[in-house]
Amino acid sequence: MTKKIAVFVGSLRKESFNRKMARVLTTLAPESLMLEIIEIGGLPLYNQDHDDEGKPPAAWTTFREKVKSFDGVLFVTPEYNRSVPGVLKNAIDVGSRPYGHSVWAGKPGAVMSVSPGMLGGFGANHHLRQSLVFLDVPAMQQPEAYIGGASHLFDADGKMTNETTREVLVKFMNAFAAWVERNSPQIA
Ligand SMILES: Cc1cc2nc3c(=O)[nH]c(=O)nc-3n(C[C@H](O)[C@H](O)[C@H](O)COP(=O)(O)O)c2cc1C
Repeated sequence: MTKKIAVFVGSLRKESFNRKMARVLTTLAPESLMLEIIEIGGLPLYNQDHDDEGKPPAAWTTFREKVKSFDGVLFVTPEYNRSVPGVLKNAIDVGSRPYGHSVWAGKPGAVMSVSPGMLGGFGANHHLRQSLVFLDVPAMQQPEAYIGGASHLFDADGKMTNETTREVLVKFMNAFAAWVERNSPQIA
């Protein structure tokens, strides 16, 4: 059965390399996966008072319900100051609460970091993984995906122009499909 994968992009920039990458990944995924980018830019900053008072913003509730309906999660993120951009951390925090009602728990996941720099966003990738451990998201360990030199990978239309990287992406998505299959909750 096809698994639905929610894709989160850690950049709001119009010409974001990470968004271009996320779009490319949707076209390279095997048939067993259906990818959809979930927008996170409109989520109000997390404030626990709203949950404690039982009045979460509508955008939080919509986001939480939407993520719940997916079978897995894929994060495609830049690195900001060697960590995860605030917009992505906010989305993760919003989805993690109210306490005991996290939308992330048990969903198989994967992380790709994309940067024009040579380190490929390694710091962001691993900071994100730290949160995923706590959130009980089994995050695929191999292959790792630190994509550097991002300014040389796409043409003006956002198409992937680097054949070697394209092959890496195909391997990554095939491995992720197998990971999702292995780590999906079993229905008795
Ligand atoms: C606030 C800020 C911090 C950044 N810090 C890093 C960093 O730590 N490592 C890195 O490789 N690039 C860093 N960059 C550069 C980003 O990798 C670059 O802007 C990239 O294009 C962002 O991803 P995007 O194209 O998807 O928007 C930073 C950019 C900004 C705006």
